[in-house]
Amino acid sequence: MARKVKEHIKITARDKALIVRLLRENFRKHALLYLGAMISMLFIAASTSASAWVMKDVVEATLRGHDFQMILFIAGAVAVIFITKGFSSFFQSFFLTRAGNSIVSEQQRKIYARLMQQGVGFYQKNASSDLLLRVTQNANSARSIIDTVVTTFVRDLFSVSGLLLVMLVQNFRLTIVALMLGPVAFLGVRIILQRVRGLMAKELSSLADIIKVMQETTIGIRVIKAFSLEDRMQQRMNKAITDVQRRANSIATLEAATGPVMETLAGLAIATVIVFSGYMASQQKGVEAQLMAFITALLLAYEPAKRLANVRVKIESGMIGVRMMFELIDVPLSLQESKNAEPLACPRGVIRFNNVGFAYIDDRYVLKNINLTFPAGKMTALVGPSGSGKSTMINLMMRLYDPKEGFIDIDGQDIKNVTFQSLRDHLSYVGQDTFLFEGSVYDNIAMGRAGATEEEVRAAAVSANAHEFIEKLPQGYQTNVGDNGGNLSGGQKQRLSIARAMLRNSKILILDEATSALDAQSEALIRDALDRLTKGRTTIVIAHRLSTIANADKIVVMKEGDIWEEGTEEELLAIDDGLYRELYELQFQNSRQALENMS
Ligand SMILES: Nc1ncnc2c1ncn2[C@@H]1O[C@H](COP(=O)(O)OP(=O)(O)OP(=O)(O)O)[C@@H](O)[C@H]1O
Ligand SMILES: [Mg+2]
Repeated sequence: MARKVKEHIKITARDKALIVRLLRENFRKHALLYLGAMISMLFIAASTSASAWVMKDVVEATLRGHDFQMILFIAGAVAVIFITKGFSSFFQSFFLTRAGNSIVSEQQRKIYARLMQQGVGFYQKNASSDLLLRVTQNANSARSIIDTVVTTFVRDLFSVSGLLLVMLVQNFRLTIVALMLGPVAFLGVRIILQRVRGLMAKELSSLADIIKVMQETTIGIRVIKAFSLEDRMQQRMNKAITDVQRRANSIATLEAATGPVMETLAGLAIATVIVFSGYMASQQKGVEAQLMAFITALLLAYEPAKRLANVRVKIESGMIGVRMMFELIDVPLSLQESKNAEPLACPRGVIRFNNVGFAYIDDRYVLKNINLTFPAGKMTALVGPSGSGKSTMINLMMRLYDPKEGFIDIDGQDIKNVTFQSLRDHLSYVGQDTFLFEGSVYDNIAMGRAGATEEEVRAAAVSANAHEFIEKLPQGYQTNVGDNGGNLSGGQKQRLSIARAMLRNSKILILDEATSALDAQSEALIRDALDRLTKGRTTIVIAHRLSTIANADKIVVMKEGDIWEEGTEEELLAIDDGLYRELYELQFQNSRQALENMS
């Protein structure tokens, strides 16, 4: 038990390595700023020590009182010392905050750049609230640790050393007496450290809870209102808030607990020194001035010594954030571009699955030994029951995941060996729920292809049957789409994403048809736009609409991660007891119902 506690309070070797890494990655780049801060700190330490040293002369000069010139000189010296200290403090915090702010922003950029490299799998494993917290908070921990390390080990250490030197020179024996209480102080602080670590980790996780509840509130506000979930959400939020509050209190108490320990010990030390010095003064004549300087030095050493004793508590509380930050930066990339990746040449756009097997988790395979060709310039419809692996097929095609077995090639090139950029340049994707980014309608279409001209954007909108409704919006193309397109209807959003794909004009088109039914007119507009979009492209569509399936050149029926049937509609209907035929007949009895069950 005792050992366990001891290990707990230790800043582990790993933590030390992290601090070294933090300093190495950040300190060098900001070396000049830190040099400035350190020089200022040396000035602070020197002027603090000098202010104690000068006390001896102050007392001697004022006691004697006959050498007025000497008094003026000493008064001037005191003024200079304090002015120096004042300005050094200013420059210290000036340089330190500059460096600190720059580190925070650099770390945040670094974290985000790393997140952008991660594959989709990473985002499914990590809660967005947790990522949010890491990007916003953890960089600050990094900064606070560097600040603590620099200020404590430069300013405070030098101040204490300088003052100790003054004490030693003024009175050696008294210094030894004062120092004897030091180790007791450090012991007191260590005990407090035991609990800080665990508490900080919990505080951060409850903070993540608050963010999560808030996110769910904004995203799910319609469901919350419709099902009267306000009270339930409020309760969850209250719990998260209370957790944060309780933990913040405990941490504050612990951090403050070093106060009484240090004050008591300091009080004892100073009282002892006073007793001893009183005794010395009665024994020896003319030591008053010396003792005055000594006691001043002792009093001035107290604050920096307290911070030195406290430094581990502070580092410990910041360490949680730093650990979390590096954890995130160090997550291996789930999907990487191959070392000698080449740009994809895509003259025809034939996609082939070769013995492809895939599992999201361990070896729970959701696709088994798939061999399939998507012919160039034709439309292939993927149909099949829910969970049969249709979306997984297109995830693999877009290389959001890599197959566990086999490979996928486009015009003979394994997509694992081509650059991400070129692969994605040849693909466009129109998803089930169209995601729109903050910004104008125009921007949302234009992001389909970098460098598209205004004419091209408008032409794309026209062929996506979107131009007309866009013109009717309050500010036309410049209308803001609102938070994730909140200002637009479902059908309008779909047409915007068709326009985006239209503009991209890629060889291969991947369509995840929306399941939600639209009114007949909207449906017809989208149908018409899609007909134009798919013309001449290799199109893979996860089809929910019968009209789409009927238009397809090839139908692939999936079931339980397998290809059950494939062929033209005519061929599939000819199979007795065929799955497609079954679905088709069901659909006749129950027109729409069947399709919805099927997909
Ligand atoms: N990110 C994931 N992690 C783990 N399992 C997943 C993940 N995504 C899908 N699955 C599982 O993989 C299987 C195939 O899912 P997939 O999304 O490909 O089905 P689908 O045919 O597109 O279904 P639907 O028509 O309902 O969209 C399902 O059993 C599903 O539970
Ligand atoms: Mg799906």
